[in-house]
Formats: sequence, C-alpha cells, structure tokens
Amino acid sequence: MSRSDSEILGRSDVDDLDAIIAITNTDADEVVHAVRDNADAIFTWDYERSRVPLIKLYEKAKSSQWNGETDLDWSIEVDTERLIREDELRPSPELLAMIGVDVSGTALERWTEDQWVRFAMERQNWTMSQFMHGEQGALICTAKIVETVPWIDAKYYAATQVMDEARHVEVFAKYLDTKLHSHYPINHHLEMLLDDIIADSRWDITYLGMQIMVEGLALASFGMLLQATKDPLLQQLLRYVMSDEARHVAFGVISLKEYYEHLTDAELLERQEFAFEAAVRMRDRFLSQEMWERLDVPVKDAVRIFRTGATAEQRNADPFQQLLFSKIVPNSKKLGLLDANDGWLRKRFDTLGVLQFEDWADTSDEYELLDAVAADRAAG
Ligand SMILES: [Fe+2]
Ligand SMILES: [Fe+2]
Repeated sequence: MSRSDSEILGRSDVDDLDAIIAITNTDADEVVHAVRDNADAIFTWDYERSRVPLIKLYEKAKSSQWNGETDLDWSIEVDTERLIREDELRPSPELLAMIGVDVSGTALERWTEDQWVRFAMERQNWTMSQFMHGEQGALICTAKIVETVPWIDAKYYAATQVMDEARHVEVFAKYLDTKLHSHYPINHHLEMLLDDIIADSRWDITYLGMQIMVEGLALASFGMLLQATKDPLLQQLLRYVMSDEARHVAFGVISLKEYYEHLTDAELLERQEFAFEAAVRMRDRFLSQEMWERLDVPVKDAVRIFRTGATAEQRNADPFQQLLFSKIVPNSKKLGLLDANDGWLRKRFDTLGVLQFEDWADTSDEYELLDAVAADRAAG
C-alpha cells in the first residue's frame, strides 16, 4: 500500500500555495545546524576490485581534479549590474508577457527600470546562494556514503566526490563573497530535503536523494545558467563544476542500477515515494520566497503572478521549470523507478508535467562528454 500525498508531503494538494509558502526558514541567523544521521559506518574486508564502471569512473575522477584557486581567473572584474543592463533578455513586463506572466494589477506593474535590475540582481544572489548550500549538502551526503556503502569501489569513488564537493562549496562561496557581495540563507524546502536525505538510515537513499535527485536537478540548472550568463568567470566556474557533477550523477545511476535490480516491489515503492517527495520539495524551492521578502513584495502575490495558467497542466507548461527535470526523469527510468508498481512514479511525474524527458539521455555515460577539464588540458 502506498502512502497518500498528504502523508508524503504534509499536504493533500501538491499545488496548495498557502501550505507551500507557510514553510519558511524560521532561524535565518543560526550558525550551525545539526541533523542525526542514524546510520552505521560499514567496514568491508572484501578489497577485490570487481565493479568495472566504478573503477573507470574513479580513474576519471583522479585525472580530472582541478584547483578552484588557480584554474579559475579570479582577477576578472564582475559588474553584475552592467551585465544585467546590457542583457536584452533581462526581466521586464514585456518579456514576462511573452512567457504568459501578467504583472498588471500588482506591485510589479509600477516597477521602474531600476527595480527590475535590482530584481535580476537579487535573483542571481538567491540562485547562487542556494547552489552553495546545496553543494554543502552534497559534501555531507557523500562523506556519509563513504561510511555507509558496503562496496570498496564505491567507497573509493565517493572519496573523490567529497573532494569535488569541497571545491564546489569553496568556489561558489568565493564567487558570492568577492563578486556578488551578498548572500541568502538556505531555502527551507531545500533544507527539509537535505535533512531527510541525511537522516535516513538506508545507504541507497542517500544516493537517490543526492546523486539522482538533487545533483540531477543541479546539473540541468547549471547548464541553463551557463547558457544565460555573460560573465566569463562564472562560465568557466560552471563548466568545471558541471564536469564533476556529471560524474556524480553517473555514480548514482551506476550504483543504484545494480542495487535496485534486487529489491522487492514494496522496497521499490518506498524509493518511488522518496523520489516524488524530493521532486516536489525542489520544485517548491524555486518559488524563491526569501527573494520576494527582500524585494518587499508580498510573497503570495509574487508567487501567484509567476504561477501562470488556471489549471495545473498550464502552470506546469513553464519550459524552464520543466527543463530542470530533464536529467532526473531519464535517470529514474533507467533505475526502474518510473515504471515499478504499475507506474506509480510515472503518474506523479505526469502531474508535475515532466514526463516528456523520459527518453532523453541518461547520465551514466554522459560524464565523458561533459569533461571540460580534460578537454581544456588536451587543447593545451
Ligand atoms: Fe557539487
Ligand atoms: Fe556533486
């Protein structure tokens, strides 16, 4: 028997706006945040190297390491305001109208050019801040995988990912501190998801939550930002972070493919429910509540404006929101999670409007194509 949406999400209607925005970060000034991780640290005495795809991935990770201090050119001046003013695609009422967002009758209708520029700057700060916090989540989750996964080849690989994630937190924090000069606390929907992943005692749930869901979304999201940004420093940072991120998602797909082949339908259903919960939490976080508060726009008004369309189907037609799921859906399919238990997760992803990606490339091989670090070294 599967759990109901309200048992999984804490609300019966996945689109209940009041319930979504009632979840806020109540302690924005906290300095440390403790989560009990409920898992045993596992030694293995079987040192035999037998998992060929993981061995290959580990070798790739060792040879594609980079240094955030010396491989990125931090001397580049980043004038975010100028870049936004020069961008023909910067947000404006006219541009928003083209994607079906109507600001008439709201506070945004009277916004000046300067206010729209400030909005674009805040949005970038908010986005980069959430990336930074998510990267720390990846650092902690992957350190946990080193402890809990029972396979030696996976422990070796995960150790390289811990180093990668330390570098990612480092470069996002440095970019925020030295180029954007401001940041946001963690979004509470993202924090709830990270806490759930870390608190779970089952080692594969760490992988499913982090490598498949959070990092799958991050990989798509970094790719979209890379297309949009005109800042050469951020472009280089994202290319290198994505080289690592593609390996991380591949690590999840390769490991869980083996493990999920041996699970029962009841065990798979628990994983399907977890994947659905993670997808909804990540979608909710993109409402960027904290940014609206800082812009002095009532959150509910703002969130309403940007959720266009009268029906769930119309609202879910936002191409940017959909693209965020372009890695998660094919990877879930490859793991058998989309179709187990009469397509339980397929139906849920259909209501989120993201099923069209099911036959896109999964990430288990894509990491070689995305290795910008190796490509730059080969080019000299
Ligand atoms: Fe990362
Ligand atoms: Fe990662």
